Parts: sequence; structure tokens; C-alpha cells
Amino acid sequence: LFVAAHDSTDTMLSNALYHQKVLQSRPAISPVVPVRLRRRPLVCRNASAGVSIVGTQPPASNGPASQPEEKLNTWQRWCKWWQLESPENVANSDSDADSLKTSKFLPLFSKLAQLIAPDKKMLSAACVFMVCAAMSELAIPHFATKAIFSAAGPGVTHATFEPTLKLLTGLICFYGFMSAARGYCFSILNNRMTMRLRAQLFANLVRREAAFFDGSEVGTLTSRLQADCQAVTKCVATNLNIAFRNMLQAVGGVVYLAMLSPSICMATLGVCILLWGITLFYGEVARRTQKVYQDTLAASNQVAEEVLSLSRVVRTFGTEGNEEGRYKSWLERMYSVGLRQATGYGMFVASGYIVSYMTKVVALALGCVSIMHGTMTAEQLTNFIFYVEFVTYASLSACDEVVEVMEAVGASERVLELLAAPPADQVAAGTTLPSFSGKVEFRDVSFRYPTRPNHKALDHVNLTLPAGKLVALVGLSGSGKTTLVALLGRLYDPNEGSILVDDTDLRSLDASWFRRHIGVVSQEPRLFGMSVRDNIAYGTPDATQADIEAAARDANAHDFITQLPKGYDTVVTDKLLSGGQKQ
Ligand SMILES: Nc1ncnc2c1ncn2[C@@H]1O[C@H](COP(=O)(O)OP(=O)(O)O)[C@@H](O)[C@H]1O
Ligand SMILES: [Mg+2]
Repeated sequence: LFVAAHDSTDTMLSNALYHQKVLQSRPAISPVVPVRLRRRPLVCRNASAGVSIVGTQPPASNGPASQPEEKLNTWQRWCKWWQLESPENVANSDSDADSLKTSKFLPLFSKLAQLIAPDKKMLSAACVFMVCAAMSELAIPHFATKAIFSAAGPGVTHATFEPTLKLLTGLICFYGFMSAARGYCFSILNNRMTMRLRAQLFANLVRREAAFFDGSEVGTLTSRLQADCQAVTKCVATNLNIAFRNMLQAVGGVVYLAMLSPSICMATLGVCILLWGITLFYGEVARRTQKVYQDTLAASNQVAEEVLSLSRVVRTFGTEGNEEGRYKSWLERMYSVGLRQATGYGMFVASGYIVSYMTKVVALALGCVSIMHGTMTAEQLTNFIFYVEFVTYASLSACDEVVEVMEAVGASERVLELLAAPPADQVAAGTTLPSFSGKVEFRDVSFRYPTRPNHKALDHVNLTLPAGKLVALVGLSGSGKTTLVALLGRLYDPNEGSILVDDTDLRSLDASWFRRHIGVVSQEPRLFGMSVRDNIAYGTPDATQADIEAAARDANAHDFITQLPKGYDTVVTDKLLSGGQKQ
């Protein structure tokens, strides 16, 4: 079975001539049916930055869209300033509107739990270290106050405070080691989780249907794979871990305070609750901005990837300036999202610090009154203030981390969306045929690309390709030749009609078994960054060196391959070979 579908006249002619030569040596195959090529003239038009071919996008169209100005008062402008939207080209239209409104804690946490499940032992160890570190740190102020006040009493010798200081030294060393062990375990866990998450996402992406890749850009997807995955797992290693430690300490501190003086403790707790309220509010803002930030990052990444991979086109058309401007406009949009993040964070920190330090003032005021009435000693108040400081600091840090967890929730949403998508039908298992001749029949096939549902790429096509014949498919650009070949390779399934291979519907055949019987020379060849040998044997892991050389000789490639610096072992870059050589 061999189908050649080409747009370019010279490649078509050279292929036809080459196959004529092959055919002379293989008389079993009937000759090529020559068909006259009809060509549509290439239309060019003048554009401000030079000449662009009609049909390609003008450079500015992929930049962030600017919106018309409305007349608003200061408050309305302030509110509008906070309304952020993800860039259109990376947003997923259906889910986007609600997902900016609602938090998705549960899906993120269940995903994180699933990612960390294989490391249960290490996680338990890390938690034990965390609790030990938190508790030992919590005890430090108690012993510090004890040492100070034991030295202040009458008849003091070294022996009075030495045991306390020794205990304190031991406690501090223990705290240091426990903190180190906690940090070590959590960063290992983080690395493992990032590795697993990226591997899962990648495995999911390579199995997605061809239509998915028609609608997504490579730069955006690599950004999801890199930056978003990192942001998601970082939340376990640093944010959740520190947040838990601080919460633990805050709770411990509150219990201790309650034992010292229930009334002052209640007042402190009230202020802490206010602090938590502020955090939850700001956390929501942080989640939204982070999501938009990740999307904008993905869009800018896409532009960079596109321009750098099309560097020759950019040079040829002299559009370096335009491309620089396009990338810069994305950077500016990212900066403007960052500006909102910074403003929000500034407001959060200011209110957080004021509230947390006010706690101390409240405690001091209540404490001073108690000392005045003789219901509390100076030692108790000092101890108390140490712990109020401890509790407020711990809650403030916990709040800070909670905000970052919310940001991770924002970053995780796209990753989770991608992970939830099922693999393509076109990689599914199915039946295999005992023998395979290669007869192909297109029976009343109609097809629209999912990304262009209003456009019929194929309209009721009926075509029979007999086994053992060489068939050239010729037609105007855009008439559907490549589409027909894509359907035959089962990259897409037809919307109507069916494709029969050896009289069996393609949809019922085992996809990978069927693909083992297909060879493809693509119209726009791209090679993997592997050796020439591995590129030729791609998809055929059991091919021997002799098989590979025979294939290269058949394709008239053996001679130029042996002239490469390391012959078949030369690692090819996309620029090393000519288009025809790559084919
Ligand atoms: N991935 C795609 N997504 C949406 N539309 C496509 C896609 N590929 C091709 N088309 C459209 O389908 C039609 C047939 O294209 P194609 O089969 O590539 O033509 P050709 O005969 O030049 O190979 C064209 O109108 C083209 O714009
Ligand atoms: Mg084509």
C-alpha cells in the first residue's frame, strides 16, 4: 500500500521519476498513472513590514488584544482593574468562566494525594520530623523566660540557671536537626511528585487525539508541562509543609496561652481569626491572578517558541522588530498581571502585620491591667508576650503559605483539565486480520476538522485503491489530499461513511497493529534529535542494521548518509538535512 500526496511540483515529479525507476525493477507493481498537475498561482500582497503570503497571520494578530476605553469613575476603574481574563488563545472556552469563580481544592488535593501515595513511608517520616521540629521550637520561649527569671531571683548562683541553659542548648540542636530532616524529606518528595506529575501529563498528551493538537500550541503545552507542574507540586514541599508546621505551632501556642490566662488567650484568638479572614479573601484573589498569570506565561512561551523555531522565516522577511514587539507585548501583559499580584500582596501584608502586631498591644494592655490588680506576675506576662508573638507570627506565616497554596490551586487547574481528558479513540485496541493485502476503500466519506466544524474538508468521497497498485492523488491545494491520507492513517475518524481496509472497517481494527503496515513520507518532514539510524528505524524497534541500510538504499539515501560526519550514527538536527533528504 503506497499513497503519495504532494503539493510541491518538483517533489512530485522527482518522486514520480524515482518510483518509475523502482517500478522497472519490480514489475509486480503496475506503473504510475500520470496525471497533469494544475497549479494555483501564489498570491502575494504588500504588507507594512514587507511581503506576506495571503493566508498567513499578520504578526500583530497573535499579540494580546487591547480593549476599547469606557467612561468609569475611580471606584469602578479600581474594580475593573482587578478583573483579569486569561488570553483567548490558551483559555478553554467551556470551563473557563466558572473556573475563575470557583476554587478547586478537592481535585488538586486528591491529585496530590495520588502523586504522593507511593512515598507513604517517606511522607510519614517527614511529618514526624515536622512535628518534632515544631514542638521543640514551641518549647524554646518557655525555657528562655525561665532562664531569665531564674537569674533575677534572690541568692542566684550559676547552678540555678545552668540546667535550664543546657536543656535549651539541647533543645535548639534537636530543633535544628529535625528541621533539616523535615526539609530534606519534603524536597525529595517534591522532586518525586514533580517527576510523576510531568510523566503523567506527558503520557496523557502523547495519547491525545490529533484534533487536540490542531487546537493547542506546542509552546503552551510545554509551559504546562514545565512551569505549571512545578507550581503545583511546590505547594506540598514548601507551602503545605510550612503552613502545617505553623498551624501546629499556632495551635500549640494557643493551648499554652489558655493555660496561662484564658481571658487574654480569647482576645488573642479573636485577632487571629480576623487574620484568617483576611487571608481567605486575599487567597481567592491570589488564586485567580495566578491562573491568569500561568495562562499568560503559556501564551508568551508560545510566541517565543514559534518565533525561535521559525527564525529563518523571520530573517527572510526582516520581521525581527515586529516579533520583538509581539513578545514584548506579552511580557507587558504578564507584568500587568504581576502588578496586580504585587498590589494585592502588599495590601495583604500591610493588613496582616497591623492586625498581628495589634494582638500584642491587646495582650499587653490586658496583661498590664492584670499585673496592676495583682492577678499576674511580670514573669507570666513576659512568657505570655513571647507566646503571643509566637502565635501571631505562626498564624501570619501560615496565612502566607495558604495564599501560596491558593496560587498552586490556580496553577493546577489547567494541568488537571489536561489530565482528566481521555486518550484518543484512535489509539484504541481492536481486532487484527490474519492476512493483510492492502485494499483500501473510501465509502461515502465526509469529514470536517473538529477545529473547523463549518468547513467540509471531504464531501462524500468514494474511492477504491486496489492492493499492489501505486496511486497518485492529485488536486488543487486545499482539496483534501492530505486529509484523505490522515483519515487513512486514522489520525481522525470520518464524520460520515467509512474507510474499509481489506473490507474491514478501520474503526474496528487494532490501531497500533494497523499502523505497523503503513509507511509514511510526510509533506513537512521533521526529524527527531536522534541518530539517522534511529530516525529510520522509528516505530520499528526490532529493525537490524541491514534492514535500516536496505531501506536507506531503497530511498536513495544511503550515499548521502555515509557522507555525514558519523554516518548512520550522526545525530540529526532539524537543519542538518535538506527537505528532500529528510523525506
Ligand atoms: N488541521 C486542520 N484543521 C482544520 N482545517 C484543516 C486542517 N488541515 C487542513 N484543513 C482544511 O481542510 C481542507 C483540506 O486540506 P488538505 O487536506 O490539507 O488539502 P491538500 O489537498 O492541499 O492536502 C483545507 O480547506 C484546509 O484548510
Ligand atoms: Mg496537502
